[in-house]
Parts: sequence; C-alpha cells; structure tokens
Amino acid sequence: MPEDKKNEQDHFAEVYHLIMAAWGSQAVRAIATLSVAEHLDSGPLSAQDIAERESSDPDMTYRVLRAGAALGLLTYDADRGTFSPTPMLGVLHGDSPTSLKSYAQAAIGPAFWLPAVLLPETITAGSNQAAQALGSNVFEYFGKNPEEAQKFSAAMTDLSAPVIREAASVIDVGTAKTVLDVGGAHGAFVSELVQRNQQLTGSVLELAHVAATVEDEARKRGLGERITGVTGDFFKAVPAADIYLLKHVLHNWDDVSCRSILSNIRSSMRPGSRLFIVEMLVTDSGASSGAALMDMAMLFATTGQERDLAQFDALLTAAGLRRTQTISIRSSYSVIGAEAL
Ligand SMILES: C[S@@+](CC[C@H](N)C(=O)[O-])C[C@H]1O[C@@H](n2cnc3c(N)ncnc32)[C@H](O)[C@@H]1O
Repeated sequence: MPEDKKNEQDHFAEVYHLIMAAWGSQAVRAIATLSVAEHLDSGPLSAQDIAERESSDPDMTYRVLRAGAALGLLTYDADRGTFSPTPMLGVLHGDSPTSLKSYAQAAIGPAFWLPAVLLPETITAGSNQAAQALGSNVFEYFGKNPEEAQKFSAAMTDLSAPVIREAASVIDVGTAKTVLDVGGAHGAFVSELVQRNQQLTGSVLELAHVAATVEDEARKRGLGERITGVTGDFFKAVPAADIYLLKHVLHNWDDVSCRSILSNIRSSMRPGSRLFIVEMLVTDSGASSGAALMDMAMLFATTGQERDLAQFDALLTAAGLRRTQTISIRSSYSVIGAEAL
C-alpha cells in the first residue's frame, strides 16, 4: 500500500509485525532444529509423527508447526491432521543448495540472541555487552561451546554459499599457486577458488577449534589433498601466500584490530601477493537494509561494524596496502582487491 494511503492501524500492524518477528524467528529456528523439512521429504506428517522422530513433546511440536504454518513455511490439512511443506520450507532443508538451516540455528542462537537483548544497554554504554551476556566475547564463547561453534561455522557456509560463488567468479587468480583464507571458517571460499583453479592449493588460518575441522570439510568436497587447516591467531601472525582472502572478518573488529590483521597480512606478503576482501559496503546515502541489519549484529555482539569504501581505504593505507579494484556483487557485497603499497 502506498505510504500516504496508510492509516494509524496499518502503521500499528506494521510495527507490531516487526516486534513479533523476533518470536517468529525463534519458531523458524525450532523448525530448523527439529529437521521438519527433512522429515516431510517422505510426505505429509502429523505433529505426533514428527515428535516421535525427534523425541519432542507432541503438543508443543504441534504448536511450533502451527506457527510455521502461520509464517508460510507449512500448510496444514485439518481433516488428516498433517503438515506439508511449502517451497519456503525447502530453504530450511539441510541438503538444499540454498540452505539456511544452520544459519537459522546459529544467527539467532544463544551466542547472538543473548547479546542482542542487551542492544539498548550496548548503545548507552558505548560498547557491546557480550561479556555480560555470554561471560566472554563471542569468539571465546564459541571456543568453549564446540557444538554452537560448529553450527556457527556451518551457518557462515550457508550464508556465504551464493556470495562465495559470485566472488570466486570475479577473482582472477593469475599465476598464483597458493591461497590462504584468513579466518575462513570451514574453508568454503578457499574450496571454491581451488576447485575453479587447478594450479592452486589452499589453506585456512583459523582458531584451533575451527582449524581442526577444515581438512574433514575439504575431504567431503574431494579436496583433502589440496586444502589444509592452519591453527593460528590473525592478530599475531599470518602465513605467506600468493593470494589472501578475508571475507566477513574485518566487519567483526574495531579499526585498531583491523589494522593489526591487515598489517600481519602485509608483513607476510611476497612480491606480487594480493589480498581480496569480501564485505558488505554501506554507502553515503545510508546502508542497504541487509548491511544495516548486519551492522546491528556487529554492534551488539562484536567490536566491529559494516563500513563504507573510504573506511576500507583508510584501513588498507594504514596497513601499507592500497586498493586496486572494487567489484560489486550481490546483496551489497563487494570484492575489494588490494596489494602492497
Ligand atoms: C564471521 S566469521 C567469517 C568466516 C568466513 N570467512 C566466512 O565468511 O564465512 C569470522 C571467523 O574469524 C575466525 N576468527 C576469529 N578470531 C580469530 C583469530 N584471532 N585468528 C583467526 N581466526 C579468527 C572465527 O573463528 C570465524 O570463523
């Protein structure tokens, strides 16, 4: 409806829906966790059937499925008492090439949900309240909660898959032989580049609990011989490579920390080494909605932020690097190429 035709009731309803979306997203998370999409592969099922398969409470399972139907993920056949999937539910299926199953579980799981509740206090205090909500910063929290950490890395892979495909398609690796994904989670990005470029071998620099999973993931992709996981701390040192990838890492950190990561990359660069940063870009005219909402997560859970191009340039220059190219890809993401000054 055009803005000028809306009345007070419409605005009330819109804002009410924005507020209720928080509870709806937890229903989506529960539906993902109960693997409802996978169970319905075999045809319509009742809440009781799903509860038996998941060892969950049947009445409560029914209530969350009913909420799923209200959200458009399911349809309900009242005569048979069964639920069927809508095409939307397919996105919560673990086998879907465009799955958001892990993202649904991690993005609004305790590691983010608990600090998110303290957003107003964060803004008043001028710093995130993650330590108050989680007992430590979010990455240390993952170190102590391996199951959640595993889900978070899988979530990063879910969210990243389409961005990675597009980013990899615009990166010209030239004659490079080695590629290092700095803070590369399970190594999805490096895998995509290695798959597209037969001369490349890849590695992923990660915290110990993530690095330990990289080679298993690479084996699953048939790349066990070409990808290694390297345990390390990008604030201390970064191993040498011809190409460095830095995707969705700088937005987690304040400027001082970003300069430290970039300086460590710069120090290990060989002649001809290049860096490719993949991040959402905010613009002068205000952030795109995707970047502006992602920025909220950076606000309540990290010390970072989404940045504009001038901010990236300043970080690069301070670390002895310069931007050589900027390629816009999907959903306000860009690939920013850089080399040593
Ligand atoms: C937001 S995730 C991005 C993951 C991946 N690059 C992607 O785009 O899907 C940030 C990653 O940085 C890693 N990380 C955090 N602190 C680190 C450190 N000090 N050294 C190395 N990796 C770190 C985390 O484990 C996490 O996988």
